Parts: sequence; structure tokens; C-alpha cells
Amino acid sequence: MTASEQTVPDETDAHDVAAQEIEFDLLAGWTEDAVRELGPEYAIPAGCRGSGSPSDLAWLAEALVIGRETRVVDVGSGVGGPAGWLADHFGAQPVCVEPMRSAAAAGRRLFGLPTVVAGAEALPLRSGAFDAVQSLGVLCTVPRPQRPAVVRELRRVLRAEGDLGLLVFVARGPLPGPLPEGNDFPTEEALTELLEGAGFTVVQSMESDGLAQAPVAWQERADAVDDLLARHHGDDPRWQRAQEQTERISRLIGGGHVRPLLVHARAAG
Ligand SMILES: C[S@@+](CC[C@H](N)C(=O)[O-])C[C@H]1O[C@@H](n2cnc3c(N)ncnc32)[C@H](O)[C@@H]1O
Repeated sequence: MTASEQTVPDETDAHDVAAQEIEFDLLAGWTEDAVRELGPEYAIPAGCRGSGSPSDLAWLAEALVIGRETRVVDVGSGVGGPAGWLADHFGAQPVCVEPMRSAAAAGRRLFGLPTVVAGAEALPLRSGAFDAVQSLGVLCTVPRPQRPAVVRELRRVLRAEGDLGLLVFVARGPLPGPLPEGNDFPTEEALTELLEGAGFTVVQSMESDGLAQAPVAWQERADAVDDLLARHHGDDPRWQRAQEQTERISRLIGGGHVRPLLVHARAAG
């Protein structure tokens, strides 16, 4: 039995399963299977599909001054690519927190990092336990009314003057439809207000070019994973629905309506 067969809902349930569950949970299992088939060097690009480029990850790691001893947690860690990258490049041992069970399990198996199944609204972590928190592509998938509670939790688990690193897809104005299901993109101003309301000061923010900046060697591995997934699951309506979701987001980014923003914020002392 493959990793994904243990957890996926039946194909006929496609329309009953929330788009995000398909995108974040089902695809996680399929992605793990693809990495097993292609080889371990595909794990990090596969585990970062749809989020940070290597230069985004490096920018955040330098902003958060990550080292071997840094106590760091990745909230909404997905399949664990960004946390795996930190472990690989900076020798840190990030704790991963991810609400989708299959994604958390796939990440744990692929990268061997401590992984907790939980939502960011109620982190099962001690107050002040971390020097740094990173969260990539997560806040724009959290419904607006829940965001203040999420950001307060990110603050709670950080020590005084600890560092927060975010990748947030922000809206640059009214968005043309059809919009991706389950995403709610804040404006940069709303994001700053949210962070300040939870006791953070924005140290620096920078618009990223996203995966356009990724080296060909990285992109080739990410594309190989995509091609394999399409070969294995192309006829599955759940794959088609996930593709539709990806295309809607890509269209918003391509049209400049939504931009990836890297943010470094610092917790109050
Ligand atoms: C676009 S993915 C990014 C995954 C990963 N951070 C990366 O960059 O590859 C968004 C992730 O946020 C997670 N997520 C959604 N709502 C969340 C919540 N309330 N608390 C924690 N994570 C959440 C999803 O399950 C998904 O894994």
C-alpha cells in the first residue's frame, strides 16, 4: 500500500471534499509517493510546491538568523519542504505543526522532523518556547475572522524579541474572479495592522518574485514531480480540481493582483 492509499477519500467523493483538503492533504500523500519513485533529492522541491522558492527560504532564514541552536517552529508546515530545507542548509531541527493529517505524516516520513497535528489557532506548544517562528503561505488560507487568534498564537510561542518570518500572498486591489476556493488574501496594510495588534513590529518586508527566481535545477525537480503526479492522477477529478485551484492562483499572481510578500517581524520585548 502506498502512503496516499492509507488516507485518501474515495474518488467519487470529489465534490464533497473541500478544495483545501484535496490541495493540502490528498496531494501531500501523492507527493510523498512521487518522491519515493523519483528519489530523495526531489523531496525538498516537491515539499515546497506552491510556496517558497529557494531564495525566499534563504531570505527568511537569514532574517530569522537561523543556526543549529535556534529553536524554530514551522506553523502550517505542509509536506515539510521549507522545514526540511532549514534542517538541510542551516542544521536547525524545526518543529513542524500542520493540521492536515496526511500532510503531517508525509512530512514526518520524508524529513524525519518532529511534527504535531494541530491548527495554528491553538498551538499545543509552550509559551515563549521558540526563538523563531516561520509560516509560509498559511495566513492567506486562514479565514479572516480567525487570523487575529492565529497571529496571537504565533506571538505566544515566541520568546520576547523572537523573530517571525512569513510568506503571505497579499492582494494589491480588488481581485478578478473566479477566485481560488478557501483563500482570502489580505492587503499588506491589513497584514501590518494584524501583526501590530498582536505585539509584533515589522522589521522588513519584501516582495518576492516567487518561483520565477528558482534555479532551473530546482524547477526541473518540481516539474518532474508535477509530471509524475499528472501521469498517475491526471484522470482523477480531484487532481483536476487541484489544478484548477493552482491555475486560479497563478492567474492572480501572473496578473499582479496578488503578490508573494516576505515579512520579518519581531515580537515585543
Ligand atoms: C500553501 S500551503 C503551504 C505549506 C507549507 N508552509 C509550504 O510552504 O510548503 C498552506 C498550509 O497551511 C495549512 N493551514 C491551513 N489552515 C491552517 C491553520 N488554521 N493552522 C495551521 N495551518 C494551516 C494547510 O494545511 C497547508 O499545509
